[in-house]
Amino acid sequence: MTDTKLDILAISGSLRRGSFNTGLLRAAQEEAGADVAIEIYDYSDIPLYNGDVEAAGFPAAANRLKDRILKADAIIFAVPEYNYSFPGVLKNAIDWASRPYGKSAWAAKPAALMSTGGGLGAARAQYHLRQVLVSQGMHLLHAPEVFVANAATKFDANGRLSDDVARGLIKQVVINLSAWTRRLAASA
Ligand SMILES: Cc1cc2nc3c(=O)[nH]c(=O)nc-3n(C[C@H](O)[C@H](O)[C@H](O)COP(=O)(O)O)c2cc1C
Repeated sequence: MTDTKLDILAISGSLRRGSFNTGLLRAAQEEAGADVAIEIYDYSDIPLYNGDVEAAGFPAAANRLKDRILKADAIIFAVPEYNYSFPGVLKNAIDWASRPYGKSAWAAKPAALMSTGGGLGAARAQYHLRQVLVSQGMHLLHAPEVFVANAATKFDANGRLSDDVARGLIKQVVINLSAWTRRLAASA
């Protein structure tokens, strides 16, 4: 971390090009102040977790993710809901970066969560993810909570978040996560 700029890693639970959740992360980039840089990370090259593969040598793509998490000052997740939980692709990436046991890259990282999807704004998925991240000892931001309901009505034809209430909440998440990250760093 520098005094002037925080490095925030943004991770979407959706790999699809037109993802509304990745759209939330782009909105976070747009709403962020000059004291914050947000990079959206593509982890689509990570293989399925398999203990035999890990024992044979960590895959390069999983190592890259671990290194990038370790370098980041904080993380922002945006997740869709798949069958009342968050997508397996994200769980797989979380699992790889948590290995080997005792050396999780997620440990003690400040993080914020957001979600968008159907009528509940993927609330069930976001709360499942929150539970999983607690297992990693992450320092999770509590407020504001961002559940963007009815995603299809909140983005324009270019995939840009067009809902001002949601944009305001996302802006506040970035502000609060930045303050939370600096506070934790100062007390370390
Ligand atoms: C396998 C699968 C399961 C889904 N299950 C749910 C669900 O339980 N609840 C819900 O609100 N939406 C569900 N959806 C709809 C997605 O949440 C929705 O398509 C969302 O826009 C996907 O996020 P994305 O736009 O970031 O890719 C499901 C979609 C898929 C592909």
